[in-house]
Amino acid sequence: MVKALTVNLNERSYPILFGSGLGSEVRANVDALIAAGRRVVVLTDRNVAGQHGRALQAMFAAAPVLVLQAGEETKSLADFGRVLDFLAAQHLDRTGALFAVGGGVIGDLGGFAAASYLRGIEFYQVPTTLLAMVDSSVGGKTGINLAAGKNLAGAFHQPRGVYIDTGLLATLPAREFAAGMAEVIKYGLLGDAELFAQLERAPLTVASPGLAAVVRRCCELKARIVEADERELAKEGGRALLNLGHTFAHAIEQSAGYGTYLHGEAVAVGLSAAGRLSQEIGFISARETARIDAVLTAHALPIRLRAPLAVSALMTAVARDKKVRAGLPRFVVLQKIGAAVTRQDGITPAMVEACFRAAGAVDSL
Ligand code: NAD
Ligand code: GLY
Repeated sequence: MVKALTVNLNERSYPILFGSGLGSEVRANVDALIAAGRRVVVLTDRNVAGQHGRALQAMFAAAPVLVLQAGEETKSLADFGRVLDFLAAQHLDRTGALFAVGGGVIGDLGGFAAASYLRGIEFYQVPTTLLAMVDSSVGGKTGINLAAGKNLAGAFHQPRGVYIDTGLLATLPAREFAAGMAEVIKYGLLGDAELFAQLERAPLTVASPGLAAVVRRCCELKARIVEADERELAKEGGRALLNLGHTFAHAIEQSAGYGTYLHGEAVAVGLSAAGRLSQEIGFISARETARIDAVLTAHALPIRLRAPLAVSALMTAVARDKKVRAGLPRFVVLQKIGAAVTRQDGITPAMVEACFRAAGAVDSL
């Protein structure tokens, strides 16, 4: 059965459809677009094309498909150019539509290409990783990485629809499922203590009967946050709360080299560090910090760096974070499990360095 959730953004509102066998919904939309004289193209990666070739064929029939290399390295200027050239080669005009079928890499890259090509065409998200289902396919943040940092070029461009079928996760490697769980745990920490408690009681797996409901809950939490602060402009809180752990994570990803840590793995280390920072400023107790670490560990996620990174390199990356205001990073910290706030005052570089050291960073390599 197809169940929908709407992201309410006035003229940019769109449905998130949940259910098994959503392929026929996608196909009906594709057929309707083509019948209206519009061109449809598909962007995916090699793993998804390899594992779900039949489903792609059923959803998109003869629509042209661009298949890119899998992995974070694909969120690059070079691949961005490849997607734009593909759209031009397929003669898409402004009525064209792009379907991004894959994880967050394909969704972010495809969304940014859709935002830029002819100054903006429609796109749809068909997420195939847990991370993309609970986070990146919803909310319209699109972009690519630059050598200088993660997600430094991009655009807000909302999809026209999101199709979430958790059945697609059956082929997802366990490590990738765990990486998606980092974002699920993030939602519990920042806005749903009951979700966090549920994960504490029993780790969620791809076989859990409650998986689809948890994915939907995460989308609901994200949709409400995005509706209230679509462009992350709120002075306090707002959409920035979704970046819990991410200032640490982005620094780790950049310092270690993109691809060394899966994004969700870096987020897991970042969530642990954010817990420690929240404790350091007197917001949460050591017991709550330990609960955060325990849930992350129970979901096969790291809470410490696998190999040491230099504190100085991590701090340089932190200083380049998009959330930096007046030279200081604005961190997301926990007031308690289930409630987060943004905080700049009272957080010193020494505190942040101490969190990195606690995660295994060192003063010299
Ligand atoms: P990903 O897109 O690299 O996918 C992970 C791996 O799983 C890839 O190797 C992919 O080929 C493979 N894969 C995908 N679906 C599969 C399936 N069903 N079966 C088997 N293999 C499959 O990574 P990701 O974790 O989905 O996304 C990470 C990216 O998302 C990062 O770049 C991050 O910055 C971005 N992100 C964006 C937002 C946002 O709001 N836009 C939010 C969170 C994360
Ligand atoms: N993943 C952060 C955001 O969508 O704002």
